[in-house]
Amino acid sequence: MKRILLASSEAVPFAKTGGLADVIGSLPYAFDKEHYDVRVIMPKYGSIPKEYTDQMDFITHINVSLGWRNKYCGIFKLDYNGVIFYFIDDEFYFGGQNIYSYIHHDIEKFAFFSKAVLSVLPHLDFRPDLIHCNDWQTGLIPVYLNVQFQHDQFYRGIKTIMTIHNLKYQGIWGLSESQDATGLPEYVFTPDKLEYKNDANLLKGGIVYADHVTTVSETYKDEIQTAYYGEGLDGLLRARSNSLSGIINGIDYKLYDPANDDLLFVKYNIDNFSTKKKENKLALQKLLNLPVSETTFMVGLVSRLTDQKGLDLIAYIMNRFLDHDIQLVILGTGDPKYENMFKNYANNNPDKVSANITFSNELAHKIYAASDAFLMPSLFEPCGLSQLISMRYGTLPIVRETGGLKDTVTPYNKYLGEGTGFSFSNYNADELWDCIWYAKTVYEDKEEWNNLVKQAMTKDFSWEKSAKLYADLYSNLLNN
Ligand code: GLC
Repeated sequence: MKRILLASSEAVPFAKTGGLADVIGSLPYAFDKEHYDVRVIMPKYGSIPKEYTDQMDFITHINVSLGWRNKYCGIFKLDYNGVIFYFIDDEFYFGGQNIYSYIHHDIEKFAFFSKAVLSVLPHLDFRPDLIHCNDWQTGLIPVYLNVQFQHDQFYRGIKTIMTIHNLKYQGIWGLSESQDATGLPEYVFTPDKLEYKNDANLLKGGIVYADHVTTVSETYKDEIQTAYYGEGLDGLLRARSNSLSGIINGIDYKLYDPANDDLLFVKYNIDNFSTKKKENKLALQKLLNLPVSETTFMVGLVSRLTDQKGLDLIAYIMNRFLDHDIQLVILGTGDPKYENMFKNYANNNPDKVSANITFSNELAHKIYAASDAFLMPSLFEPCGLSQLISMRYGTLPIVRETGGLKDTVTPYNKYLGEGTGFSFSNYNADELWDCIWYAKTVYEDKEEWNNLVKQAMTKDFSWEKSAKLYADLYSNLLNN
C-alpha cells in the first residue's frame, strides 16, 4: 500500500476559488484503493459550510513554531465519501471568510500551513510515503521537510512532488520579511534556492526542493520552459526538466453528467441532445431575459474574469458580436475592468449580452448545457477545466491553442469531418473573431455540427487515465 498525502489550499466542496479546488476534490477518488491510500490535507477556513464542519472529528492540537512564533494548531478529520480529509485549524490564520487576502498575510499563513502539515504527521493515524504539494501555498513543504525535519527518523525518506497549477502565482515577498515569517535559515534565501530578484519566492522553493515537479498538461510543461510562459522561472524549470512531467487534469464525471444533472432544466445524453439541448437553451434565454430563439448562436463564457483568460481579446471584438445573430452569456467575477465592461455591454444590449457577475454553480451548469459554443481564448492555460466540461455537455469550445486547451480540444477539420471544437493559434483578436465566425458558419450546417457535438460528448476526460499516470509516478518515486 502506498500512502499519499495531497496538500492544498483549496478543495471542493469545502473551499474553492478556482480549478485547483476541483482537481483536489476529485483526483483522490480515482485511485485504485487496494494499492493507494490517498488523503488530503487543507486549512480549516471559517468559510467552510457548517454542514461539513459539524461532521469533522477533532483529533488533537499541537504547537507549531516558525522562528520566534509559536502557534496553536488544531487537527480535524473528515471522511468525505470515502476519502479522508485532514483540516489544519487556527483561528488567527484561517478564521476569516476569505481564503486569500493580501500577499503578506498569505505568505505568513501558508508558511504556517506548510509547517503545520509536517508537524501534525506524527499525530495522525497515517504516515505518508509521499506528500503531493499543489501550487505556491504548499511550496514550503519540501523546503521545511528538507531543512528542518529530515534529520528526524520519522520523516526520513518521505518524498515530495510539487505540482504547478498556475505558474503566474508564485508567492513572492520581501527576503527579510519572508525569513521572519517562515523561520527558515538564512542560507535558503539565496538565488539557487528561494531568492528571486531580491525577494523570496515560495513556489521556487518547492520546485528546487521537491523530488519531482509536475504541471497539468504536456503542452504547458513545454511552454513553461520558455521565456514567454516561464514567468521568470523557465531557467530553473529547464534545469529540472529531467524531473518534470505534464499530466492532464480530468473532471468529475459524476458531478458533470448531462444525463444525471439535477441543475439542468432538462437532462440529456448523446442520443437526444439535439432536441434536449435546445430546450435548455430556450429555458435559459427566458431565465436571463434574452430573446427566446432556437436558431440564435449562443456562446457561453464561465470564467474567473482575469487577464489570463484572454478577455482583452473579447473586449476588442465585443462590437462585432452585437452586429450579428449571436447571444453572449457570461458568468464570473474578477477584475473590475472586465466586470464593468461586460455589465456595460449587457445594459446597453440586453437582447445580445447577459452578464452575470456573480458566482453560481447552478447557473454555470445551465450555461454549459444551454450554449452552443463555449469561449476560452486564454493567454495561457495550464490545463483548463471548462473546455472539458463543455465538451462533456456537447457545447463546442472555441479556444486558443495553448496549454491544456491545445491538448484536449481537437480542432474541426472539415475534410475529415473530425473535431471536438475550434481553435486559433496567435493571441490576436482578429484570429479569435475569425474562429468564432467559422464556428458560427459550421453551426448553420446542423448535421455537421451535431456530428462534432457527438465526438465532443464521447471523448473521455474522466480522471481514470491521469490518476494512473500519477499512480505510476508515485510508484517510481517510491522505487516500487
Ligand atoms: C489553474 C489553471 C487551470 C487549471 C487549474 C487546475 O486554475 O489556471 O488551467 O485547470 O489550475 O489545475
